[in-house]
Amino acid sequence: MADKDKKYNVLNASRLSVAPMMDWTDRHCRYLHRILSRKTLLYTEMITAQAILHGDQAQLLAHDSSEYPLALQLGGSDPAELAEAVRIASEHGFSEVNLNVGCPSDRVQSGSFGAVLMERPELVAECAAAMIGAARGVEITVKCRIGVDRQDPEKVLPKFLDTVSQAGVGRFAIHARKAWLEGLSPKENRDIPPLDYPLVLRMKQQFPALRIVINGGISSLEQAEGFLAQGLDGVMIGRAAYHDPIAILQMADRRIFGCDHLVSAHQAVGQMLPYIEAHLQGGGRLNQISRHMLGLFAGRPGARAWRRVLSEGAHLDWAGPALVERALAEVGNDAA
Ligand SMILES: Cc1cc2nc3c(=O)[nH]c(=O)nc-3n(C[C@H](O)[C@H](O)[C@H](O)COP(=O)(O)O)c2cc1C
Repeated sequence: MADKDKKYNVLNASRLSVAPMMDWTDRHCRYLHRILSRKTLLYTEMITAQAILHGDQAQLLAHDSSEYPLALQLGGSDPAELAEAVRIASEHGFSEVNLNVGCPSDRVQSGSFGAVLMERPELVAECAAAMIGAARGVEITVKCRIGVDRQDPEKVLPKFLDTVSQAGVGRFAIHARKAWLEGLSPKENRDIPPLDYPLVLRMKQQFPALRIVINGGISSLEQAEGFLAQGLDGVMIGRAAYHDPIAILQMADRRIFGCDHLVSAHQAVGQMLPYIEAHLQGGGRLNQISRHMLGLFAGRPGARAWRRVLSEGAHLDWAGPALVERALAEVGNDAA
């Protein structure tokens, strides 16, 4: 795909995205999500620039070309390392590279990356400029919070957007709550600091040329459509898309992107079977894939039976497509 087509594609896709989530949005999860929606932008889990530079690149960056448009999320704060990681990522076909300025990480132990960088917009701008310099047709974006700890988001967020956009970043995904770096666990930091959607909406008014994507606590397509109607450029959904992928992704192509693509949960399972088969033949295990499929029938008849059969059996040595088919049959029985 030509660079300009790739950029258009990812920009358009960013109207709806599934958030980067460590341990959750791995390649198997993304494969499932892509079956349900052809258009939604998908993100990898965060990978640190250092891991890419010094680790097993082929394994860390592995994905299926069907996952496009696909964004790689990087963690780091060293401009040269990030630039090198972007150069490598662009050779692997990613449509976008996103810098993580949102994960609460311990300042002292893990150096500066993630949300603590909200305190250092100039460094983020330097990182972004270096990444853009290495990008070769891949769009560089930033995912951030509205502030950390005692910062005043009303002051900090506009300054952050202004400084980082001057380095050339045109799209920001904003998790609409602070991160409290002292005293809260990463999990608590996704729920306890209050959401401030109006602030994110005001940022779009203040910076109309930037593409602003809102994130945090969004749990339905209706809500996503509401934010788009209010002028935001995109909506990023994390936990709701993972726990109930049908509710978020099944109608996404039609309602958010205006194109026809509709796959039922049953059909999605059917399309996963050859993928599972290939994974097992390559030495993988069923539960590495099926754990991401547990929510496929969430809130619908048969959900309990589906989860039970997969949870009880998928870790066993012999487990394969036949177990998934049995779980699917149980959905029918349970629903009857
Ligand atoms: C299990 C889990 C892992 C996460 N890992 C990351 C990550 O690697 N990078 C990141 O920027 N945010 C990460 N997040 C935060 C999400 O991207 C998102 O900002 C947050 O969950 C709020 O959106 P939601 O309310 O729609 O889930 C993670 C969230 C969860 C639940």
